[in-house]
Amino acid sequence: METKELMKYDQLSPFEVKDKLIELAKSHHERMMLDAGRGNPNWVTTTPRHGFFQLGLFALSEAERSFTDMAHFGGYTQPEGLKARFDQFVRDHAGTAGIDFLKQGVDYAEKALGIPSADLLLQFCDAIIGNHYPVPDRMLKHCETICAAYIRKEFGAGRPFDRPFDLYATEGGTAAMTYVFQTLKENKILNVGDTIAVGSPIFTPYLEIPRLNDYRFVEVEIAASEEESWQIPDSEIDKLLDPKVKAFFVTNPSNPPSVKIQDATIDRIAQIVKSKRPDLIILTDDVYGTFTQGFVSLFAAIPDNTIGVYSWSKYFGATGWRLGIIALCEGNVLDRMLAQLPQADKDRLAEREMSLKAINTALADTPANVLKKLNALKKQKQTEADARRQVESALNTLRAEKRQQDQKLSDVLRNGASLVTRYRDLHALSLKLHEQFQPLVEDAKSLPEIPELDTSLLEAIEQPAEKK
Ligand SMILES: Cc1ncc(COP(=O)(O)O)c(C=O)c1O
Repeated sequence: METKELMKYDQLSPFEVKDKLIELAKSHHERMMLDAGRGNPNWVTTTPRHGFFQLGLFALSEAERSFTDMAHFGGYTQPEGLKARFDQFVRDHAGTAGIDFLKQGVDYAEKALGIPSADLLLQFCDAIIGNHYPVPDRMLKHCETICAAYIRKEFGAGRPFDRPFDLYATEGGTAAMTYVFQTLKENKILNVGDTIAVGSPIFTPYLEIPRLNDYRFVEVEIAASEEESWQIPDSEIDKLLDPKVKAFFVTNPSNPPSVKIQDATIDRIAQIVKSKRPDLIILTDDVYGTFTQGFVSLFAAIPDNTIGVYSWSKYFGATGWRLGIIALCEGNVLDRMLAQLPQADKDRLAEREMSLKAINTALADTPANVLKKLNALKKQKQTEADARRQVESALNTLRAEKRQQDQKLSDVLRNGASLVTRYRDLHALSLKLHEQFQPLVEDAKSLPEIPELDTSLLEAIEQPAEKK
């Protein structure tokens, strides 16, 4: 490709370049390798899926225990006896793929994480059926406990990592990152034009975020070096000492090289934060962390300063499910920064918080309300069904009456027609007798007149009977 041609690509975003490469790969078979897609894994983890779908079947069987008289309708999972019904479900489906996984998961949550099975099943059934707005909306309680245990196990590499932290469920890692930047700006922790350090290589779409008009951050590159097997040299890390640098944005393991930051570098960053930069915000995308052994996340090493992001897209081959989390320790640097904001900003944020709460209250419906509405709906359906039954029975009576009337009418018509025939015969006989009487009487005029036949009237009586 000509340099001039190449220069044009310089103006495109990474996603546009990717699309262009796919176009080229499609048009020329020998260039197929240019289609790197969107880093979509070419596998899926099947066991958790089996477990997931078995849970779905169990939850459906629970739903169908209510409203049994109404087709296509189910109700809420009932907590009474739920665990016993689950155990029965497991026994009934022993040997089916996913059943063992599901049972082991429920047992693990109770034994290792202290989540009572009945509670977990109730939450999971509601979640998989999707009949509730999630409460709390940031992440379901038990899901958070389980994910936190996973993060603790995978990100600490045996280091003590016992700080409590909150998780926020998001639609994947990329969404998590955009939410983080939005909220940092909205809360005046990062402002337009601030300087941030960006570890490179980085997941290419992340290159775009700091450059968006909303942020226009000044970027300082902290580059891993190919010569050092994609590790970040100390000289680069030391750029974080500059107090102008407000945040360090990094993917670990890096993308595309997929090399995790070595422990010594993690420790160096921790040391810098501790001794010189206690206000530094670290934003780490650890999506590939679970692919490596002995992974230490910056989130585990520097919990006070780090916002962690993880996604289930890659390791579980679940890019289409859009599952990610943001992890944040309690009492971290952001809390301190918020506390130090000028009063005017605090007031504005408090106002915003109140508006958000009002929106949430307006949107949310309490379970009791939902039940009330459901019962009203059931009553309404019942009334409709009763009314339909009444109308049907009245219609049946009407149909039967109509059949009887039709029968009577056709009898009348038949009788009418036969009377008409007899009338004609009688008339003809009268005419004949009239004729015969005429020579026998002195004055023919004294004989009574025979009226004319009203043929149109007679035909009008005959015709409907003929049609029947
Ligand atoms: C480092 C990294 N983070 C995040 C993502 C995207 O994750 P998600 O699908 O959860 O948005 C990718 C995808 O390629 C990635 O490589």
